[in-house]
Amino acid sequence: MNTVFQNAPAGEPERQYYFMEECRRLLRQPGQKPLRFCIITFGCQMNAKDSEKLEGILLRCGLKAGGTEKQADLVIYNTCTVRENANKKLYGHLGLMKSLCEKNPERMTAVCGCMMQEPDEVGRMRKNYPFIDLIFGTHNIFRLSELLYRRLLTGQKQIDIWEGTDQIVEDLPSVRKYAFKAGVNIMYGCNNFCTYCIVPYVRGRERSREPEDILKEVRELAADGVTEVMLLGQNVNSYGKTLDNPVSFAQLLKRVEEVEGIRRIRFMTSHPKDLSDELIDVMKHSAKICRHLHLPLQSGSTRILAAMNRRYTAESYLALAQKLRREIPDLSLTTDIIVGFPGETEEDFEATMEMVRRVRYDSAFTFLYSRRTGTPAAKMEGQVPDDIAHARFDRLLALVQKISAEESSRDTGRVMDALVEEVSGDGSGMATGRLSNNVMVHFPGDASLIGKILPVRLLASKGFYYIGEQTDGIGDYAVSGDEEQMVNR
Ligand code: 5AD
Ligand code: SF4
Repeated sequence: MNTVFQNAPAGEPERQYYFMEECRRLLRQPGQKPLRFCIITFGCQMNAKDSEKLEGILLRCGLKAGGTEKQADLVIYNTCTVRENANKKLYGHLGLMKSLCEKNPERMTAVCGCMMQEPDEVGRMRKNYPFIDLIFGTHNIFRLSELLYRRLLTGQKQIDIWEGTDQIVEDLPSVRKYAFKAGVNIMYGCNNFCTYCIVPYVRGRERSREPEDILKEVRELAADGVTEVMLLGQNVNSYGKTLDNPVSFAQLLKRVEEVEGIRRIRFMTSHPKDLSDELIDVMKHSAKICRHLHLPLQSGSTRILAAMNRRYTAESYLALAQKLRREIPDLSLTTDIIVGFPGETEEDFEATMEMVRRVRYDSAFTFLYSRRTGTPAAKMEGQVPDDIAHARFDRLLALVQKISAEESSRDTGRVMDALVEEVSGDGSGMATGRLSNNVMVHFPGDASLIGKILPVRLLASKGFYYIGEQTDGIGDYAVSGDEEQMVNR
């Protein structure tokens, strides 16, 4: 055993490729049955991206994809902890896994991701779920092959949590969910410390990838047939500030735009305090950057925004939203809003409602404030009682949905390009495409269209999506009331 470890390279990612090979060797031994894995992912696009890396590593280790949670030899839960609900969901799954593992102790269970960066949660895992074989966090997912190798060899549980890191390990294997679109991390972590948010504690300090590394990845994706990239970071607008040779996010976008084969660029998430005029200008003049901006508001009350440490006011946010609408008229604006932050009064909540009425978001994610242990807001006075928060949440949701349905119908009758993502599984012969502004359109089509960008006529709005038809792309035209009714019938 020791020679394997003695011979392991010290540098990354070479060390992990070495352990992937060693895992493969172990799993190829005579009598060893093939191991199937299943990855269950909670939370945001960052986690989805991490899971693609986990899958890439496992395949390279010689495990087989396609396992189900109930039958796989290895189940990995990639966890989220941004709100209490996410934690609860994991515990639901672990309850099931407990009984499955009791029936078949050969099965392996791994838990990783954001929740594992919370010491209390790791303590709970160790105490209440002793069947878990691997526990690791957000900073060291790249070490999965090494941990798995140790577990396979010794049969012993492996727990490896790092408090933080300034390391970015490039060039890990990764498996994409879609052939034609891909997420690309441009930075990790967050330095903003919004007072309600646990992300800076579990994802660590902000670290930007070198632009050359990002561009290399984007070029490789383009060469592999990807036409749409989504640049990922907790606060993409502060990208590049900490690099030895600082680069702005707008400059990065310009360079990504130059990559041949890439036809659409999206990014997530923008913090309003850092959104520059340079970025608006680059977006405005770009043929590739999608007409969608996710700009989390969180609250429409300046007083609450200050308590949240958001570092903008309601007025400056509104001015920014208006500038964006003026400069890029076809832009779709979406947002995140938290209801029931400590100290939120009826007046504060009304200010949020008013902001929604004025900005008229194309869609909005609304969240009930969730008290996260360790964040400053958890200790604040004036925690809002559940019934009041729920009632406000319902009012906000109704408003958001009403405006969203009105806004999403504004392009009815137009011809717009849609990237076809999938076909419905029910045999109805309908394809689903995504417009540049992130709205979906369903239209008659088959699997041969998947991955293509096609002009589609938007015949009728169904609130959050359109029904359309493929067209030759000639000109916009307005649908008469009669035609719309025909489609609705
Ligand atoms: N409670 C409710 N919502 C939260 N978010 C982050 N932390 C919390 C919390 N403690 C929301 C914010 C953020 C989104 C990703 O999750 O709106 O933009
Ligand atoms: Fe959380 Fe604020 Fe960072 Fe977003 S910007 S991840 S809400 S701390």
